[in-house]
Amino acid sequence: MRTKLERIRADIEALAAFNATPGEGLTRLSFTEEHRKAAQYITEQMQQAGLAVRTDAVGTIIGRMEGTDPAAPVVMCGSHFDSVKNGGNFDGPAGVITGLETARVLHENGVVPKHPIEFIAMIEEEGARFGAGLFGSRAMTGRLGEQELATFTDPDGITTGQAMRAFGLDPAHYADAVRKKGEIKNFIELHIEQGPILENSGDAVGIVETVVGIKEVEVTVTGRPDHAGTTPMDMRADAFLVAAKTAIAANEAAVAVGEGTVATVGKLEVRPGSFNIVPGKVVFYVDIRSKSTDCIEAVLAAVTAKLNELTAGNGALSYALRMMVETKPVQADPHVCDLLAESAEKLGLTSRRMLSGAGHDAMIMADITNIGLVFVPSRGGRSHCPEEWTDYDLLQNGIETVCETVQRLACE
Ligand code: GLV
Ligand code: MN
Ligand code: MN
Repeated sequence: MRTKLERIRADIEALAAFNATPGEGLTRLSFTEEHRKAAQYITEQMQQAGLAVRTDAVGTIIGRMEGTDPAAPVVMCGSHFDSVKNGGNFDGPAGVITGLETARVLHENGVVPKHPIEFIAMIEEEGARFGAGLFGSRAMTGRLGEQELATFTDPDGITTGQAMRAFGLDPAHYADAVRKKGEIKNFIELHIEQGPILENSGDAVGIVETVVGIKEVEVTVTGRPDHAGTTPMDMRADAFLVAAKTAIAANEAAVAVGEGTVATVGKLEVRPGSFNIVPGKVVFYVDIRSKSTDCIEAVLAAVTAKLNELTAGNGALSYALRMMVETKPVQADPHVCDLLAESAEKLGLTSRRMLSGAGHDAMIMADITNIGLVFVPSRGGRSHCPEEWTDYDLLQNGIETVCETVQRLACE
């Protein structure tokens, strides 16, 4: 192997140290001190690999290796380095480190590609701070809007725009991050699988053919706060009860439509939030995913039908929906998939074609370029939790596959 296991281990461990919740998994939210320190580490590593490094208008770090034809479209490779709350060390960083290690290998082997290569590290992919996610890639593809920067807030009420400003970025310039169609030849992302398929099959790498579509809807149910001891059960406007029954309806609808469709309520806030007050307001999120757009729409229709049913006939109950994230199912580029499979084979690694149930920056980048997405095994299929783990040698298999493929794409 041309990549070095010790460097991969050192990168994972170094990034894992920039963590707001040591001992309780990794928490690295966007535009925080942990973000700043991780960005500094990534920038230094990119510079040492001979890359020209800049940060785009929304905070994505871009390290560029020039090609012999500087006007040729760019081959881009990377992932994100923000995390969920109390997550693991691999979701995102594995792909960022893939870029770092590929850059080092090309640099030390004196490879001068025809196409420029940009190694990137994005932020707020998880949406763990402001609720929307895929932020760096949406900015790059022109999907980010002024409205979002001004109105999406973290739990302290700080808008994305305010957080950017405090971090030293000017939110007014967000559109400068946009890259034009044709400017990027390919986007290649490595990610941990976050599920059990590769571990069970024993294959070294997964080559994603389809990424599911996602709808993430914020639901605000307004009821009426009343005394929990004195208000008879038939005189309440309990916002939590509406939310709970809607969550069950979403779950049942996902099971009913099938085709691997999933629906999750993973975030819910009860206000005012006291054991002795009937809930007056609840804000919760329904995350719906499927490879079939029709199935996503069917679950969303079941959710709204349930909300209508539960709020009808009680003047004190109402609800509002806000779409936070909306993506269609996306296909990876067949040529890139074939190249990834050939690279794996050349390295003596087994691969299998897969579906991704998780969202990734690559699926957004598919708006403007041909994408490839590579998975490596996750121990026990666990992810978005402190136990998330991939053995370093298994990660190295994926990195080596990407390294080989990026070189081929940049030289063809
Ligand atoms: C990110 O991990 C997502 O799939 O939402
Ligand atoms: Mn994630
Ligand atoms: Mn991720």
